[in-house]
Amino acid sequence: MEYRLVREEDAFAYLEFFRTVVSETDNLACSAKEAAAMTVEDEQAFIRNTNGSGSFSIVAAADDGICGSCDIRIQGRERLRHRAEMGIAVRREYWGTGVAQYLLEEAIAEAKSRRISIISLTVRSDNKRAVAFYKRNGFELSGVLRMLFCIDGKYYDGEQYELLLK
Ligand SMILES: CC(C)(COP(=O)(O)OP(=O)(O)OC[C@H]1O[C@@H](n2cnc3c(N)ncnc32)[C@H](O)[C@@H]1OP(=O)(O)O)[C@@H](O)C(=O)NCCC(=O)NCCS
Repeated sequence: MEYRLVREEDAFAYLEFFRTVVSETDNLACSAKEAAAMTVEDEQAFIRNTNGSGSFSIVAAADDGICGSCDIRIQGRERLRHRAEMGIAVRREYWGTGVAQYLLEEAIAEAKSRRISIISLTVRSDNKRAVAFYKRNGFELSGVLRMLFCIDGKYYDGEQYELLLK
């Protein structure tokens, strides 16, 4: 497994990975229908914009495709650029294998090298597996987001967690 920054040439594999993880869980913001509508060109543009804006994604890449990704998005405003929003997902067959842990550690190291001071994320409150993963890694609860997701007409609350990097 190789852990590295995502590149434009990864667009096809990245989209395939994204469609897979979105179909495997209801814990991500993107729906399967929205993921199905994305094109490789959309994905390529997304990666280009991400890399050009100071945000980044670390991917876990194997010979047969991408298995996981940890995305770090920073804000454009000067006064907010020390803050990053994180999203992480790995293919279900890799849950519990350490891939997510390694991705997170790589992303934190890269964030520190870019002088990011705080990482925040939102998670569905009932996503106990992800919450346990974040807490194990030092993230602390910093807020509650009522009615975060609406799926098939049903609302799901969320929580915000933060990790201070200095
Ligand atoms: C969230 C995610 C990246 C974590 O990676 P992972 O490889 O599954 O995580 P780990 O196995 O290292 O850790 C999971 C933790 O949850 C615990 N856990 C597993 N099932 C659980 C459950 N039903 N309830 C509570 N805790 C649970 C495990 O024991 C472990 O905690 P521990 O190390 O303290 O024992 C991965 O599950 C994933 O991609 N999920 C789908 C996408 C997603 O939900 N992303 C987060 C959106 S905010």
